[in-house]
Amino acid sequence: MKSFFHIAIDGPVAAGKGTASKLVAQKLGFLYIDTGAMYRMAAMLAAQHGVDFNDEAKIVSLVKQAKMAMHSPRQDEQDGRLITVLLNGEDVSWKIRSKEISEGASKVSILLEVRKILVEKQKEIAQGKNVVMEGRDITYRVLPDADLKIFLDAALSARAERRVKQIQATNPQITLEKILKEIAERDERDMGRSADPLQIVPDAWVLDTTDLTPAQVADTIVHRVHEMRQLTHEKD
Ligand code: DC
Repeated sequence: MKSFFHIAIDGPVAAGKGTASKLVAQKLGFLYIDTGAMYRMAAMLAAQHGVDFNDEAKIVSLVKQAKMAMHSPRQDEQDGRLITVLLNGEDVSWKIRSKEISEGASKVSILLEVRKILVEKQKEIAQGKNVVMEGRDITYRVLPDADLKIFLDAALSARAERRVKQIQATNPQITLEKILKEIAERDERDMGRSADPLQIVPDAWVLDTTDLTPAQVADTIVHRVHEMRQLTHEKD
């Protein structure tokens, strides 16, 4: 019997994937992997080298040479981040969340050759470990044999409100209308692209988080994992 458990979580922008995945990982003692951070690092590399976000050959070459690493925030890194992201040794955990890099990541993630390299890296990271991995193509491309596949969703208005609250802390000027438009545009790009678009696979559990807190989402998932593991033990 295999001794590890893979939880694959896909879903649109601001559905609460990051916070819920992190909490689930903490509660179960699993490794949390934010695959979006890897597309953001690819965009960051392009920005650092003055490369256009559509220049596939140059971005592939930069990604191949780069050292991408992630770890759970250490004691001195507890500043609200869910994960510490290191690009060639530099802590870019917050830099990759800027508006420019968010848009860049959305563009870079359309490039097939970039996806191929990052998907390989993601498969390697998860191999043989208990993981909670979140992104857009995890349930069908990165971990198609995951033990539990979840599509985390929420109403567009709820997702925009959550995002506005996060951004208002640093940018009080931001409006709900602007964020609604940005999220709708990113949804269209994530779902409309030909390269591994965001989609709901037939065996995914669709969890609507519109009226749930992140803690409630995490508890619901953890409960399901315990049920599944109990069933497996009973079968053994
Ligand atoms: O989850 P996020 O917002 O940090 O992701 C950043 C971008 O990367 C987003 O536009 C979607 C894309 N992405 C992807 O195409 N595949 C993944 N597995 C994760 C993210």
